[in-house]
Amino acid sequence: MLEIKNLHAKIADSGVEIINGLNLTVRAGEVAAIMGPNGSGKSTLSYILAGRSDYEVTSGDILYNGQSILEMDPAERATAGVFLAFQYPMEIPGVATMEFLKTAINSQRKARGENPLSIPDLMRTVKSAAGELDIDFAMLKRPLNVGFSGGEKKRAEILQMKLLEPNLCVLDETDSGLDIDALKIVSNGVNSLRSPDRAIIVITHYQRLLEYIVPDSVHVLYRGRIVKSGDKSLAQHLENNGYAEIIGEAA
Ligand SMILES: Nc1ncnc2c1ncn2[C@@H]1O[C@H](COP(=O)(O)OP(=O)(O)O)[C@@H](O)[C@H]1O
Ligand SMILES: [Mg+2]
Repeated sequence: MLEIKNLHAKIADSGVEIINGLNLTVRAGEVAAIMGPNGSGKSTLSYILAGRSDYEVTSGDILYNGQSILEMDPAERATAGVFLAFQYPMEIPGVATMEFLKTAINSQRKARGENPLSIPDLMRTVKSAAGELDIDFAMLKRPLNVGFSGGEKKRAEILQMKLLEPNLCVLDETDSGLDIDALKIVSNGVNSLRSPDRAIIVITHYQRLLEYIVPDSVHVLYRGRIVKSGDKSLAQHLENNGYAEIIGEAA
């Protein structure tokens, strides 16, 4: 589903290279965890996958279902089924969450050649998904993310993901700011999205999240490259031993 080949990328205006020969393959049906110390390029990778224009790919390629997405803008990627849940979700004053969801769902449906959802269908669908994530319906009347707690923002991200049914989900530090109950709810939400035709990339620097979302593969990102890959035992190994040993091997 996703094939990243010898990717090099820099920050467009400063020219600083952040991604430095990164290779990664994630198959449909797979949950891949990307771990790595702070500053190793995890968020940068997620932004590049989403197509943010502040980053420039200087060489290498990103193939999604066999086709390069480098020339696609963020909206085209979203339409093609790529979804990024942000480490720091943006606040959108003046747009009620429900209104935002309606627009997002219906533009996705339009791109798939489907009719917009009727208001009652939309309400039913959103209410049911929100309920599973323990999101109070009143929250959906508030502007998106404005004044939401850290945990509420993360739940709102997962709600969008559930409703948009993407094929490739990238979750950046979804566990940050969550208390243990919210962590379980969010993890259940992500687990409910596991499916043979969907790939999920979970970015985290703690092993804790991976006790709830058990990954099929674990990859360590350091200085803009994947320096080690393994199965879920690698996450446990990192928890016990820290990153120093692997970073030493990579240096
Ligand atoms: N806009 C920017 N300008 C300069 N440096 C940046 C910018 N964005 C990220 N970086 C640097 O790129 C590196 C990787 O950052 P990031 O992708 O956020 O790491 P992670 O998510 O793994 O903690 C860090 O050293 C960070 O300081
Ligand atoms: Mg980050």
